[in-house]
Amino acid sequence: MKIGLYADPHYADREFTGDRRRNRASLQKIKDAYAEFVSAGCELAICLGDLADSDKPHEKELNNLKLLAETIHSYPVPTFCITGNHDSFAYGAEEFYRVLGGCEPRDIHTPGLDLLFLDACYFKSGKRYERGDTDWCDTFLPDIKGLEKRLAECTGRVYIFMHQNIDPQVPEVLRLFNDAEVRDILEKSGKVKAVYQGHHHPGHRTVWNGIEYISLPAMCEYENASEIIDI
Ligand SMILES: [Fe+2]
Ligand SMILES: [Fe+2]
Repeated sequence: MKIGLYADPHYADREFTGDRRRNRASLQKIKDAYAEFVSAGCELAICLGDLADSDKPHEKELNNLKLLAETIHSYPVPTFCITGNHDSFAYGAEEFYRVLGGCEPRDIHTPGLDLLFLDACYFKSGKRYERGDTDWCDTFLPDIKGLEKRLAECTGRVYIFMHQNIDPQVPEVLRLFNDAEVRDILEKSGKVKAVYQGHHHPGHRTVWNGIEYISLPAMCEYENASEIIDI
């Protein structure tokens, strides 16, 4: 299965945020990435989070998201958008997917291949992020038992997609509060081949106890940051 991946466009109608994030430029980069996904025959595109960035007033943020939705849906490849901390800061979860016109990730099970999508936009207290109330360095995956159950139901090679990091070699501040526990469950299943993440803008790759961890470089900071995988 060919899948087009990209992470952290942080699209907003602003030239720069922070030192390095070129928010507005990400729209063209998204278009370029989709053109490549389509010509490569990708069956699915996945945004690994932080699709959009804050851009007050909220009316402007909604217009930005509508433009992203129009762009994404103009290509003949379905998209799943995992929510990142910046998406959660600017939009309510229901609002995000409603304005995007779908794109809500759902686990995919096919003979020999399973894709699981994890949402770690939670504080370590277990409370979900809300619009205007998030923390980029307080991130947590609740319902660990649920993850075990989902893995038990997988019959093929498993690939995981999420925004925040569980790669043990990524700085701790970017990792889930319970990252070690999550890795342990993935390792014990014996089924997980790779974990694709965003959030760590420079990007990173490592292999740890037989599982590959890939953080894509942030689209808002780098050129040609998207990737096509064939799994
Ligand atoms: Fe980001
Ligand atoms: Fe992030």
